[in-house]
Amino acid sequence: MTNDTDINDPETVVKINNLYKSFGKNEVLKGINLTLSKGENLVVIGRSGCGKSVLAKCIIGLVNADQGKVFLFGNDITGYKRKELNLLRSKIGFLFQSNALYDSMNISDNLTFTLQRREKGKSRKELDMQVEEVLENVGLPESKYMMPAELSGGMKKRIGLARALILKPQLMLYDEPTTGLDPITSREISQLMLEMQHAYQISSVIISHDLQCTRITANRIIALIDGKCYAGGTYTELARSMDPKVNSFFI
Ligand SMILES: Nc1ncnc2c1ncn2[C@@H]1O[C@H](COP(=O)(O)OP(=O)(O)OP(=O)(O)O)[C@@H](O)[C@H]1O
Ligand SMILES: [Mg+2]
Repeated sequence: MTNDTDINDPETVVKINNLYKSFGKNEVLKGINLTLSKGENLVVIGRSGCGKSVLAKCIIGLVNADQGKVFLFGNDITGYKRKELNLLRSKIGFLFQSNALYDSMNISDNLTFTLQRREKGKSRKELDMQVEEVLENVGLPESKYMMPAELSGGMKKRIGLARALILKPQLMLYDEPTTGLDPITSREISQLMLEMQHAYQISSVIISHDLQCTRITANRIIALIDGKCYAGGTYTELARSMDPKVNSFFI
């Protein structure tokens, strides 16, 4: 649906209208329409290679659409220059598969560095307080002086999340946040994502293969099939769908 009326609604965080993206002859996105409302966790599911990461990149303007529009916080980002995009991106946190921490800095310095790049002129004490608060929130206060190499995969995810959250994003984009984690750690990270949604009032687009993560975090799910948002609904609605293209994800 291309309903333009809610683009300026402050409750609409992301709106995508009829988005197309091909790479050469590979037609990946073929008319995507979606809306993310304030405070909502929207999970995008779909088979490997169907275009989930491309969709995430279109949302933040890392990939330009061939056709269609992406609105971020009511702004049409089509044709936005890097400076304008960076301004909008400053409201967005990312958790991608590689957590990309600086290996030579301890966790405290990794977080402080991220914060200082954004918010100049903060005192050492203020920075330290924010670092401690966010580490407490992600359940790893003891990691402050640890080096990234000393962390497990699950701990790295938590620190990756801390690094995004310390900048107080309005929108979070998660691309496969639980990939490579064991089921218990994956559940803990999913529950943490849910807690953070409430604690920080964040709206999120979550791309996930992981059924457990989807079940825990999703307020709403979209199944990306054949380049379109083929089906949408709650976990229970999609899991009970009679359409084999949809319910096969939930087996
Ligand atoms: N920069 C690019 N140049 C050319 N083709 C690309 C580019 N980025 C993605 N693609 C193609 O777009 C399609 C969708 O890729 P995408 O990474 O979005 O898949 P995905 O749904 O995220 O898969 P996965 O679940 O494996 O992460 C693939 O066929 C991929 O080869
Ligand atoms: Mg992907």
